[in-house]
Amino acid sequence: MYFKWGRSRVSIFPLLSITAIVLVSNLLWSFSGYTFCHREPSLCGCQKCLRDSDPWFNDIISEAPEPFLSQKHIPSEKDFLWWKNLQGARLQNLTLYNKTLERLFQTITPIADIGEPRPDHCRSCAVVGNSGNLRGSHYGPLIDFHDTVIRINRGRTKGYETDVGTKTTHHVMYPESSTRLDNTTHLLFFPFKTHDFLWLMKDLNRGENGAPNVKKIANKDLIWILHPAFMKYVHQVWLGKKGAYPSTGFLAVVLSLVMCDEVTIFGFGADSGGSWSHYFEIFKNKKFKTGAHPGEEEYKMIEKLHKKKTIVFFKGW
Ligand code: C5P
Repeated sequence: MYFKWGRSRVSIFPLLSITAIVLVSNLLWSFSGYTFCHREPSLCGCQKCLRDSDPWFNDIISEAPEPFLSQKHIPSEKDFLWWKNLQGARLQNLTLYNKTLERLFQTITPIADIGEPRPDHCRSCAVVGNSGNLRGSHYGPLIDFHDTVIRINRGRTKGYETDVGTKTTHHVMYPESSTRLDNTTHLLFFPFKTHDFLWLMKDLNRGENGAPNVKKIANKDLIWILHPAFMKYVHQVWLGKKGAYPSTGFLAVVLSLVMCDEVTIFGFGADSGGSWSHYFEIFKNKKFKTGAHPGEEEYKMIEKLHKKKTIVFFKGW
């Protein structure tokens, strides 16, 4: 069979065979692409989402239990038995603990809405530790650029804006490290003993008998309480049970990995003497080093996440 092209007569068979070959090879190519290179489309709107990371990260993060306490997520007895030894205080029995939680939930209704990844939005988070390596870093604008800025314990901004920024959306605290938060900042409350819940309740109930204008520790509706099972998970799965228990800073890092789509870390790292000195004060207790926490292990893990390009870690100066 022939057709006319200009003055020449062209056989149609070679053309048909070429078309067939192209079609079949295209089909095979897309099939092999599906089989060997198929990737789920990104779930979030960032350039690179945490969940697009390597299988090691996806495995370890998929073991994470519910991060926050609520009436729906009360700790099990097993969680309690692990948690009650952290700070070895008296008054740590399960009955008192459960009663305390029951009373706490009459005072607040913690609804931690961390949301889900969405293709049209990038939940970018900065976790800011308190390391002295922030001094002179000029990281302020970079930190403020994130949607969520998590600060820790006595970490402050006033007077240090150039290096640490001005924005705080979430603040991690426990009673001994507490500062009053403004009405719009989320309190990420990390309890280490039953007394910590009693402390929180006492603070929130101040002024309920009529005293006006009593400033509470935080806005009641913006309090999220870290679940003991999550602390245990970080201790066992992330840190291989090293140290007595994880630092508030490292707990905040792992928490950010379940709350955010993209994580940048600032202000982590001991000083040259191996101590966790702070950017906002002259560190006096040189013997403290990293306390009961496995500082080196935590640092290595943050570096590992950075090397794997799961997070970005700014090491300061
Ligand atoms: O010292 P503080 O506990 O208030 O600091 C918050 C967190 O920042 C620590 O729990 C630790 O994880 C981290 N940190 C650090 N290097 C420092 C100081 C603090 O990694 N020099």
